[in-house]
Amino acid sequence: MTGGADLGIDYGTSNTVAVLRRPDGRSRALLFDSSPLLPSAVFAAPDGTLLTGRDAERGMRTDPAAFEPNPKRRVDELSVLLGGREYPVTALVAATLRQVAAEAVRVAGGPVGRVSMTHPASWGPARRRVLLEAAALAGLPEPVLVPEPVAAAAYFTAVLGMRIVPGQSVVVYDLGAGTFDASVVRRTPGGFDTLAYRGLDDVGGLDLDTAVFDLVCAALDRSAAPVAARLRRPASPDDQRQRLLVWQDARAARESLTRNASATVYVAAAGQDVLVTRAEYETAAEPLLRRTIEVTLATARESRVPADGFAGWFLVGGATRTPLVATLLLRATGRTATVLEEPQLVVAEGALHCGPPPPAPAPEPVAVPGPEVAAVADVVPAERSGVPALGRSGAELAGIGLVASAAAAALVSGAIAPATGGPPADWLIAPTLGAPLAVLTYYRVGRLTRPGRRLVDAVTVLATVALCAYAAATALTAPAQTNGGVVAGRAICVVAPAVAAVIWTVRLLRR
Ligand SMILES: Nc1ncnc2c1ncn2[C@@H]1O[C@H](COP(=O)(O)OP(=O)(O)OP(=O)(O)O)[C@@H](O)[C@H]1O
Ligand SMILES: [Mg+2]
Repeated sequence: MTGGADLGIDYGTSNTVAVLRRPDGRSRALLFDSSPLLPSAVFAAPDGTLLTGRDAERGMRTDPAAFEPNPKRRVDELSVLLGGREYPVTALVAATLRQVAAEAVRVAGGPVGRVSMTHPASWGPARRRVLLEAAALAGLPEPVLVPEPVAAAAYFTAVLGMRIVPGQSVVVYDLGAGTFDASVVRRTPGGFDTLAYRGLDDVGGLDLDTAVFDLVCAALDRSAAPVAARLRRPASPDDQRQRLLVWQDARAARESLTRNASATVYVAAAGQDVLVTRAEYETAAEPLLRRTIEVTLATARESRVPADGFAGWFLVGGATRTPLVATLLLRATGRTATVLEEPQLVVAEGALHCGPPPPAPAPEPVAVPGPEVAAVADVVPAERSGVPALGRSGAELAGIGLVASAAAAALVSGAIAPATGGPPADWLIAPTLGAPLAVLTYYRVGRLTRPGRRLVDAVTVLATVALCAYAAATALTAPAQTNGGVVAGRAICVVAPAVAAVIWTVRLLRR
C-alpha cells in the first residue's frame, strides 16, 4: 500500500514506540495517554479480552496472574498462561500492535502506508516471524523488518544529519529494558554493513530494577524480614501484587536516581519508606554495566575497525540515561558517547528511514531522495527476500552453507577416488574441506564467548578443527590413501559436517 503515512514501530520489552511520517515528510511520535511510550504490558480481562498499555498496568492490581509486563521476553514460548487461559505469544504482541494501528489510523486520518518494525540484531527468523504474524493479526500491512542498530545508525545520519562518510563506522550501545546489544555499523557507498554485534539477554533496565528491588528487600531484612521474604518469594496473589507494586516503585526510584542523589521506595506491606542513594544503586549496578562495556569493547575489537576509525559512539535505549553508563564508557574508551534526550524514540524513527526496495523490478540501484534513505534500503529488505538479516544469523547460514558444500565435495571426491586410483581425489578433499572449515572455525571461535551456548559451540568447533586436521593429514598421506584409516577419515569428513549442520540448523530455527 502506498500514499498513506508511513509508520515506524519499535516493539520493546517494556515500551512500544511508534512514529508516523506524513507524506510531506514531517514525523511525530504517536501519543498514548499523552506519552510516546506505550507500555508493552498486556492483561487478560475476565472475559478473555486482552487489555494493553496503561489499562493493562491498572488491571495488574486486580489479578497479577493475568498480567504480563514484558511479552517480548516470552517470544520463544508458543503460548503464555494469563488468568487461567492460554494465549499464543503472537496474540499478546498483536494486542499492542492493534492499539498502535488504531492510533496511527486516527492520527493519519486514513490507512497507513508502509510499516517498518525493528528487532534486536540477534533475532533469527523464528523470532522475527512472531513480529510478522502479530502485525498481520493486528491488521497492519506487512512490515519491513529492520535490525535495531541499523535503525539507530539511520536516525543519527538521516534525522540528526550527522556526517558518516563511507568507510567510517559507529558503535551503537543499546541498553533497553530487556536486553543489551552492542553493534558496529559501517557506512558503505551503498548502505550500512553490520560488521559485528554481540548481545546480553540478561542485562537491561529490568535487571537494574532488580538491583534496586534487592536493595529495598535487604533494607527491610533489618526491620521487616517476613515482608521481605514474601516480596522475594510471593506465595499468594496478594504477595504477588505487593511484589509488582514494589517493583514498579523501584523502577521509578531508579529512574529518578538519574537526576537525584537519593530516592524512596514505599513498601505498603511493611508500611515503610526505604531510602536508596545513588551511590548504593551505582555500587549494585556497576557489575552489570561493566559487562555491557566489556561486550562493547569486544564487539569493537571483533569488527577490526582501528580505534580511530569510529565516527561516533551512540547510546540508545532508555536505560542509557543512567549516568554511570556514559561514565564507564568514557573510562574504558576515552571517548565521549553521544547521548540523546529521548534515547527511547531513536530506533522507531530511524526505522522510517530504512526503506524496502522499490516495488517495480529494478535491477540497477534506483535513485532515492537523500543518501541515508538509499543507504539503509540496501540492508533492510532481507526479511522480504527471504535472505536473513546481516549479523549472527547471516554468519550461521554462511557456516551451514560452507559445511554442507564441504560435505558434498567430500562425497563427490570420495566417490571418484577408486576410479582415478586415489591420490588426486585426496588432494581435492584437502583444499575443499580445509579452506571453508577454517573460515567456519573462525566464526565458531568468535561465538564461544557467548554465555549459555558454550557446549554446543565447543562441539561444533572441535568437529570442524578435526576435519581441517584430517584434510591436511590426508593431503600428506595421499599416496597411501587406500588404507583403512584414510577411508575411515573420509567417512568422518562426511558425517561430522553433517552433524554440525544439523546442530546449527536446529539452533537457528529455535532462536
Ligand atoms: N531517566 C531514566 N534513567 C534510567 N533509566 C531509565 C530512565 N527512563 C527510562 N529508563 C529505563 O529505560 C528502559 C526502557 O527503555 P526502552 O524503552 O528503550 O526499552 P525497551 O525498548 O522497552 O526494551 P528493549 O529494547 O530491551 O526491548 C526501562 O528499563 C526504564 O526504566
Ligand atoms: Mg528497545
